[in-house]
Amino acid sequence: MIPVETDRVVIVGAGLAALYAALRLAPRPVVMISPDPLGQGASSAWAQGGVAAAMDPLDSSGAHARDTVLAGAGTVDADVARMVTAEARAHILNLTTLGTPFDRTGDGGYVLSREAAHSFARVVRVKGDQAGAEIMRALIAAVRAAPSVQVLEGMIATGLLTDGATVTGLRVARADGSEAVGILAPAVLLAGGGSGGLYAVTTNPPRIRGQVIGMAARAGALIDDAEFVQFHPTAIACDEDPAPLATEALRGEGAVLINRRGERFMAAIHPDAELAPRDIVARAIYAQTQAGLGPMLDTRDCIGARLPDQFPAVAAACARAGIDPVQRPIPVAAAAHYHMGGIAVDDRGRASLARLWVSGEASSTGLHGANRLASNGLLEALVFARICAEDIAATLPPSSEAAPLRLPGLAPAAQPEPALVTRLRRAMTDGAGVVRDGAGLRRTLREIAGIEAAQPGCEALLNMTATATLICAAALLREESRGAHCRSDFPDAAPVARRSRLTLAEATAIR
Ligand code: SIN
Repeated sequence: MIPVETDRVVIVGAGLAALYAALRLAPRPVVMISPDPLGQGASSAWAQGGVAAAMDPLDSSGAHARDTVLAGAGTVDADVARMVTAEARAHILNLTTLGTPFDRTGDGGYVLSREAAHSFARVVRVKGDQAGAEIMRALIAAVRAAPSVQVLEGMIATGLLTDGATVTGLRVARADGSEAVGILAPAVLLAGGGSGGLYAVTTNPPRIRGQVIGMAARAGALIDDAEFVQFHPTAIACDEDPAPLATEALRGEGAVLINRRGERFMAAIHPDAELAPRDIVARAIYAQTQAGLGPMLDTRDCIGARLPDQFPAVAAACARAGIDPVQRPIPVAAAAHYHMGGIAVDDRGRASLARLWVSGEASSTGLHGANRLASNGLLEALVFARICAEDIAATLPPSSEAAPLRLPGLAPAAQPEPALVTRLRRAMTDGAGVVRDGAGLRRTLREIAGIEAAQPGCEALLNMTATATLICAAALLREESRGAHCRSDFPDAAPVARRSRLTLAEATAIR
C-alpha cells in the first residue's frame, strides 16, 4: 500500500508524555496515535501517588536530585537528575494553571505525601490517590481544545519506516486488527509507555506490553538498561488482571506490611522498614509470597475508616475484590510496574535514529538508574515532553498549518494470538521476574524465540517479543545484582556500576 504523507509531527501514545508534548508543540500541527479513546489505556491515568517536586520551602531540588541518585544504585546520570528535579516546580505550577486540582493546604500550599526513599515529603497529589487521572483529565481538555492537535483514536503504531538510520515515518493499524498503512512524517515522537504487561502480574493497563520499545529496537535504535524493570511491592493480590495498585502513599501514612503469622517483616530487613527503597520492599514481598506467608498491607491503625475518603482508588479496587481494608489487611503481591530502561535518548530526547524522539516510560534518559524513586516517572514524562517538543521545533522548519491526516480504509489482519501472549507473560514472570538467574533467563530467551516462531510476521507480537528479548539478554549479561535487577546466581553488586546498551540484533544473537 502506498504510504500517506503528512506535514504533521506524529506522536505515538496518549499518556502524559504524549499530551504534554502535543501542547508544548502548539501551534505546530501534530497527529496523535492513540489505541484507545483519550484518557483510557495509558499508564499515566493509573498513577496514584503523584508527581515528585520540591514544593516545600524547606525542601530543595538539590535534595530531590540526591535522593534520585542514591535510589538508582550507582547508575543514575547525575546531570539528568539535577536538570529534571530543577524543573519540577515549574511543571507543577503549569499543570495547576491547566486545571489540575492538586490537593492544597489551608494556606494555599500543596499537600505533600511521603514515599519511599524520599528524604522529604514531596509528592504532589490529587484527591489522595487520583493524581494520574486528574492530571490527564486537565491535559485532555486542553488537547481537545487545541486546534493544532489531531487525535486518531483506535489506532496503534506497528513499526517505524526508515531510510538508513533516519526515521521517515511509521506504520499504523487499527487497534482491533488491520493491515498496516505507512505514514511519511517529518518527525516521530514515541511516547507510548513501558512494558509491564509483558509480565503475568502487572499494574500496567492491558495494552502496555513493550510495543513501543520493541518497534524502535526493530528499526535499529539503541536500547539502554533494558534489564531494569521495577516491581511494585504492593499490587493488590486478587483475581484482576492487571492487578490494582495499593499506592506507596499508604505506607507513607504509616500502613505496615505483615504476613499471615502477624509478623511485621520489613522491620528486620531495613532501618526504614516499609519505606525502604522500592526494590528492597518488592523482594521482601516476593520472598513472603514464595514462602507461602501471604504478605498483607495493614492500613487499619493508621488510616482506618478514613481510607475511602483519602484513597478512593484503593478503596474502589478493594471493594471490587471483596476486601474491606477497614476490617482486615489487604493481600499484596509484587507486580511489574515501571520499565526504567528503554530507548536510549540524549539530553534533547533524541534516539539513536535521526528524526526519532522519545519521552516518558519508553525512553531511557538516565534518570532512574536501577531503581526509580517513587513519583519521578510522571515528572520525567513532563520534563522530556518539554525537551522533545522544543528540540523538534528547533529542528524542523517553522510550520503552523497542515491538513488533517486522512487514512485509507484498512483491511483486517492478524492480531497476536492470545495464547501466545499468555505464554510470553508467564515466561517473563517465571524467568525474568523479581529474582532471576542465568538458567532461567536462557530458558526464557528460548521460549521467546519459540513464541515468535509460532506466529511469524505478526508485527504487534514481534514488538512484544523484541522488548522481552532485550530485557532477558541484558539481564543475562549483567552478572551482578543492582537495584531492581536481582540475580540469585550473582547476589553482589559489581565494584564498578555501569549502564547497559544493546541493539536488538545483539540481544537476539544471545537467544
Ligand atoms: C505509587 O503510588 O505507589 C506508585 C508511584 C510510582 O510508581 O511512582
